Amino acid sequence: MSNPKTLISEAEIKTRVDELAAQISLDYADKGELVLVGVLKGSFIFLADLSRRLSIPRHIEFIAVSSYEHGSVRSGAVRLVMDVRRSIEGKHVLVVEDIVDTGHTLHYLIDMLRSRGPASVRTCTLLHKEHRTEVDVEIDYLGFTIGDEWVVGYGLDYDEKDRTLPYIGAIEPQD
Ligand code: IMP
Ligand code: MG
Repeated sequence: MSNPKTLISEAEIKTRVDELAAQISLDYADKGELVLVGVLKGSFIFLADLSRRLSIPRHIEFIAVSSYEHGSVRSGAVRLVMDVRRSIEGKHVLVVEDIVDTGHTLHYLIDMLRSRGPASVRTCTLLHKEHRTEVDVEIDYLGFTIGDEWVVGYGLDYDEKDRTLPYIGAIEPQD
């Protein structure tokens, strides 16, 4: 099988992650420790790179969710399968996602985390498929807007394949 065609190169990703890290470091300067909540599994590479480029105190947590599926059609309902290990009460929280597609996952996570009394909850996603939005969510830090294709690499997978490609590749138009 041939490699997926390059949509966003390794160099473009690196430049954008540097810019996001600089902006986040500026916005959270003097606010105390920032809790980065990575959404497994897709965000693990983005989170690793982003967190290492921040110049502010930070603490890493992970959360895992699963979307209910009816065959290949996602219903929009989201279920928590792994929670953070430390309380976020009174903390500044930044949710780190690989991609926002319909928006259901991030919407669910923001609501859930906000109900726990944090100082703030903001969101950072590497990718956003803006034309597939079903529920509006606030994206505070965005890497790239993309079309409706299925993308892999840099943490994102297709059925667990191509997660560790160094670039973002596009497989084929979605649906
Ligand atoms: P949403 O709840 O529809 O916004 O979907 C979010 C989740 O679906 C993401 O966190 C990904 O795990 C997955 N997803 C959506 N589109 C893609 C894609 O193109 N490639 C890989 N994973 C995707
Ligand atoms: Mg994800």
